[in-house]
Amino acid sequence: KQNVGLVGWRGMVGSVLMQRMLEEKDFDHIDPVFFTTSQTGQAGPNIGKDIPLLQDAMDITALKKMDIIITCQGGDYTKSVYADLRASGWKGYWIDAASSLRMEQDAIIVLDPVNQNVIQQGLKDGIKTYVGGNCTVSLMLLALGGLFDKGHIEWMTSMTYQAASGGGARHMRELISQMGVLKDSVAADLNNPASAILDIDRRVTETMRSSAMPVDQFGVPLAGSLIPWIDSQLENGQSREEWKAQAEANKILGNFGAPIPVDGLCVRIGAMRSHSQAFTIKLKQDIPVADIEGLLAQHNDWVKVVPNEKEITMQQLTPAAATGTLDIPVGRIRKLNMGPQYISAFSVGDQLLWGAAEPLRRMLRILLE
Ligand code: HSE
Repeated sequence: KQNVGLVGWRGMVGSVLMQRMLEEKDFDHIDPVFFTTSQTGQAGPNIGKDIPLLQDAMDITALKKMDIIITCQGGDYTKSVYADLRASGWKGYWIDAASSLRMEQDAIIVLDPVNQNVIQQGLKDGIKTYVGGNCTVSLMLLALGGLFDKGHIEWMTSMTYQAASGGGARHMRELISQMGVLKDSVAADLNNPASAILDIDRRVTETMRSSAMPVDQFGVPLAGSLIPWIDSQLENGQSREEWKAQAEANKILGNFGAPIPVDGLCVRIGAMRSHSQAFTIKLKQDIPVADIEGLLAQHNDWVKVVPNEKEITMQQLTPAAATGTLDIPVGRIRKLNMGPQYISAFSVGDQLLWGAAEPLRRMLRILLE
């Protein structure tokens, strides 16, 4: 069995990865070695079989003994060890959740239901570095894979509604704390049906703008509001999150010559861990909605086409419904007033599962085949 080193398994993405690996019995097929940045020599996690004590994640000699390394430790860790590890002559496979290596020429972005062909070609070409994509990009491609696959998309926009989890565990906690502070500021009046809603609203707004609102992580209120900027500012006016859509989507699809234009605004909203996206798609030709739905539904095992009807949309096409599942519901598919080649669509997906952990463990299984 191959020696597989796991780094960053205790953080949020790492914990979701561990849970999925246990569910899918991935540990039965490998000899896992758990690494740590702070607890070398202590006992590792309980995975139902004997494992060595925790090893030092900064120790190149220990890392070099691995056939495969999977890291969810973050971009700073990747930056501090990856180059040294490769420079030491290590030829193993590096599977990474962080973005630092994504756009490198000798790295493949993994999303096997969408780019199995690109991954297989990479393996043949001797590529050793496989990186998970940005969460919104992976979720978009799983939702719309049927249209990309057939080359039907001329261009598209993605307007996002991104959950707190994309910022990290502390951001999720802060969102709930913000909600609690707002509720607490009007709790008595809320219980009194005779109270005036405009009084309640004024108090909530005052609280939101006051120092009582916890904003250490987000910098501004998210609960009861939104933040139309995610990640850093680029010189062309895009946010880095917006830049990733076209750059990563085309790389995942293996489109290098003529990239499909993909652009839009990325917005943080008060959802917990499922990202949503509204798409405007310009098709190369007029395709009936029923055919579009068929293409999308057939593309992979996780996408679920939701009929464009109110009740089922409210029940199934939401973060509340999708969170904690591998389902990628896609709905609101209809022709837009701009003309028969223009359609809308809306999709939701768990940002920690398909958006982060799942493509990594599936890449591991591909390497073990
Ligand atoms: N950058 C994403 C976000 C998450 O902030 O929602 C990581 O892909």
